[in-house]
Amino acid sequence: MLSKSSLCAIAAAAVLCDGAAAAVAGGKHDACRKTTVAVLGGGMAGITAAQALHNSSISDFVIIEHQGQVGGRAHHTTFGKQKDGSPYTIELGANWIQGLGKPGGPENPVWTFSKKYKLKNTFSNYSSILTYNETGLADFSHLLDVYETAADEMNVEAGRLLAENQQDQSARSGLSLAGWNPKHSDMAAQAVEYWSWDWETAFPPEQSSMIFGAAGDNLTFNQFSDENNLVVDPRGYSAIIDGEAATFLKKDDKRLLLNTKVVNVSHSDHGVTVHNADGSCVSAAYAICTFSLGVLQNDVVSWEPALPLWKETSIQKFGMGTYTKIFFQFNETFWPADTQYFLYASPTQRGYWALWQSLSTPGFLPGSNIIFATVTNDESYRIEQLTDEEAKREGLAVLRRMFPDRHVPEPVAFTYPRWTKTEWSYGSYSNWPVGTTLEMHQNLRANVGRLWFAGEATSAEYFGFLHGAWFEGREAGEQIAGLLQNRCVTIYNGTKTCGARPHYADLHGTSPLQHYNLLNGWATSSFYASKRKREM
Ligand SMILES: Cc1cc2nc3c(=O)[nH]c(=O)nc-3n(C[C@H](O)[C@H](O)[C@H](O)COP(=O)(O)OP(=O)(O)OC[C@H]3O[C@@H](n4cnc5c(N)ncnc54)[C@H](O)[C@@H]3O)c2cc1C
Ligand SMILES: *[C@@H]1O[C@H](CO)[C@@H](O)[C@H](O)[C@H]1NC(C)=O
Ligand SMILES: *[C@@H]1O[C@H](CO)[C@@H](O)[C@H](O)[C@H]1NC(C)=O
Ligand SMILES: *[C@@H]1O[C@H](CO)[C@@H](O)[C@H](O)[C@H]1NC(C)=O
Ligand SMILES: *[C@@H]1O[C@H](CO)[C@@H](O)[C@H](O)[C@H]1NC(C)=O
Ligand SMILES: *[C@@H]1O[C@H](CO)[C@@H](O)[C@H](O)[C@H]1NC(C)=O
Ligand SMILES: *[C@@H]1O[C@H](CO)[C@@H](O)[C@H](O)[C@H]1NC(C)=O
Ligand SMILES: *[C@@H]1O[C@H](CO)[C@@H](O)[C@H](O)[C@H]1NC(C)=O
Repeated sequence: MLSKSSLCAIAAAAVLCDGAAAAVAGGKHDACRKTTVAVLGGGMAGITAAQALHNSSISDFVIIEHQGQVGGRAHHTTFGKQKDGSPYTIELGANWIQGLGKPGGPENPVWTFSKKYKLKNTFSNYSSILTYNETGLADFSHLLDVYETAADEMNVEAGRLLAENQQDQSARSGLSLAGWNPKHSDMAAQAVEYWSWDWETAFPPEQSSMIFGAAGDNLTFNQFSDENNLVVDPRGYSAIIDGEAATFLKKDDKRLLLNTKVVNVSHSDHGVTVHNADGSCVSAAYAICTFSLGVLQNDVVSWEPALPLWKETSIQKFGMGTYTKIFFQFNETFWPADTQYFLYASPTQRGYWALWQSLSTPGFLPGSNIIFATVTNDESYRIEQLTDEEAKREGLAVLRRMFPDRHVPEPVAFTYPRWTKTEWSYGSYSNWPVGTTLEMHQNLRANVGRLWFAGEATSAEYFGFLHGAWFEGREAGEQIAGLLQNRCVTIYNGTKTCGARPHYADLHGTSPLQHYNLLNGWATSSFYASKRKREM
C-alpha cells in the first residue's frame, strides 16, 4: 500500500502535491473526508474502476454506494419455497452471461469470472420455444426464422452504413427494408418481433438505432459467441462482483461506504467534493461517477456547477429502458416442463404479457414450479403502476388462455421489481437511440474536468451489458491512474491515451447547410441564416 507521500512522489503531475488539491473543490468543506479518487457507485463499473486503481498501486480511494451491498443492477432476492422450506434465489436484474467466447477468440470477461467463481449457469436455448395466442397453443414459430433472415440482412446493411459513415436509420426501417415489415394488426408477427428485438434492447425497433443496435449485437454475439447462459446461482449473479471486490477490499474496509446516497457533487478542474444525504462529504482529486443513465436523467444528484450543455444533452438523449421480470411460483408445473420459453401473442396489445420463461426446466431450478413473464418499456411502465394483486390477476388470466386444457391454480408466491421507480437505478439499462452519432455517445463518456463517468451506458460497444460496465470501469480507473501518475496508459485494444477524454461541444447535422434551399423543399433558409447571425 502506498502512503500519500509516496503517491506524491509518483504523481509528477503534482495534482496531489501542489497543496490542497484533494480539497480544492471543497475549500469551504475542510471537514470533508479527503481521498484521491471518489468512486461513485459500487456496481460492476465502480468495483472494477477501484480494482484498476488498486492494480496501479493507488490505494487511496473511497467507494460510495447507496445500497447496503455492492453489485448494483446485478441484483437478486429470495423467492418462494423449496421442498426443505428455504427460499429460492431469483435475479431481478442481470441474469444472462451474454456471449461467452470461442476457442482462440476473445472471451467475455463475465464468462471468465463465472468460471473463476463457479457460478451456476445453464445454456439458454432460444430454440426451445412454443407459441400461443388467446385460444391456446398456436404455432407461428416459422415467423421466428423469417425475422432472423431479415435481421441478418439488416446487420450486414448496418455494417455498410457504419463503414461508409452514412446516416443512421431506425431498426424499424432497417428491418422493413430487409423484408420484415409486419402490420400492426398481425399480432403473431408483433409477438415475434417483441421476442426478437424488444426483449434484448427494452425498446421497440422504432426507438432503436439501426447501426449501433446491429453493431452492439455483433460485438457481443459474433465477437464472443452467440450463446446466452442463464445464471441460477443461490449466491446470486453478483457473487462475481463480490468475489472481485474481495480481491482488494478487506472485510469492513473503511474505503467502502455503504448505505450512503450521493446528493450533491461540486466539481472543478482541480477536484471534486461529494455530499451525501446523511450530511457526510468526501473531497477527492478525481471522481468516477458510475450511476446509471436513469439516475443521471432523473436529477437525483445536483451538480455544482451544472453540467455543461454537451454533457447534459447526451445524458438526456440516450434511452434508459425498463425490463421487468414478473415471477410466479405454483404448486405444480402445468406447462410443458421440458420447454424453456413460451411466447404469447395478445390479440389486442403488442407486448402484453408476451414472454414466459420456465425455471422449472432441467438445468435451471427443476421442480421449482417457477415461471416468469418478461415485459419491457410501455408494458413495464403500465404494469409497474398496478398493485401486486392486479398484476397477478392479469398474468393468471393470460396463463389460463395459453393453457385452456390445464387447471391453472393460484400461485403460492408472486413478486416483481419496479425498476422505473428504483431510486438507485431509474430503469434497467440503456439503449442507443435512432440517428445518434458516436460523438454524441463520446459526450456521455467524456469527463467534465475532474469528474469522470463510467458504466454500462458509457460503453459504445457493449452498452446494456454487464461486460460493458466491466470494460468501462477498467478503462476509467486506468486512465485516472495514468493522470495521477503522469503517464500515458494503454487501453484495451492497444491504443495509448493520456489525459482528458475528448468531447464534442458542437454536433453537426449531416446535410450541408447549403442544401437547405428551395430545390430541396426548404424555403426559409435565409430566415435561419439571419437568425444565426443575430445570435452570433
Ligand atoms: C432487469 C435487468 C436485466 C438485465 N439483464 C442483463 C443480462 O441478462 N445480462 C447482462 O449482461 N446485463 C444485464 N443487465 C444490465 C446489467 O445489469 C448492467 O449493465 C450492469 O449491472 C451495470 O453496471 P454499472 O456498474 O454500470 O451500474 P450499476 O450496477 O447501476 O451500478 C451503479 C451503482 O451506483 C449506485 N447508486 C446509484 N445512485 C446512487 C447515489 N445517488 N448515491 C450512491 N450510490 C448510488 C447503485 O446502487 C449501484 O450500485 C440487466 C439489467 C437489468 C436492470
Ligand atoms: C487487476 O489485477 C488482477 C490480477 O492480475 C486481475 O485479475 C484483474 O482483472 C485486474 N483488474 C482490472 C480492472 O484490470
Ligand atoms: C434446443 O431446443 C431445440 C428444440 O427443443 C432442440 O432441438 C435442440 O436440441 C436444443 N439445443 C440444445 C443445445 O439443447
Ligand atoms: C389463434 O390461433 C388459432 C389456432 O392456430 C387460430 O385459429 C386463430 O385464428 C388465432 N387467432 C388470431 C387472432 O390470430
Ligand atoms: C455484423 O456482422 C456481419 C457478419 O459478420 C457483418 O457483415 C456486418 O457488417 C456487421 N454489422 C455491423 C453493424 O457491425
Ligand atoms: C444539495 O444542493 C441543494 C441545492 O444546491 C441544496 O439545497 C442542499 O442543501 C444540498 N444538500 C447537501 C446535503 O449538501
Ligand atoms: C395445486 O393446488 C390446486 C388448488 O389450487 C389443487 O387443485 C391441485 O391438486 C394442487 N396440485 C398439487 C400438485 O398439489
Ligand atoms: C482498436 O484496435 C484496432 C486494431 O486492433 C484498430 O483498428 C482500431 O482503430 C482501434 N480502435 C480504437 C478506438 O482505437
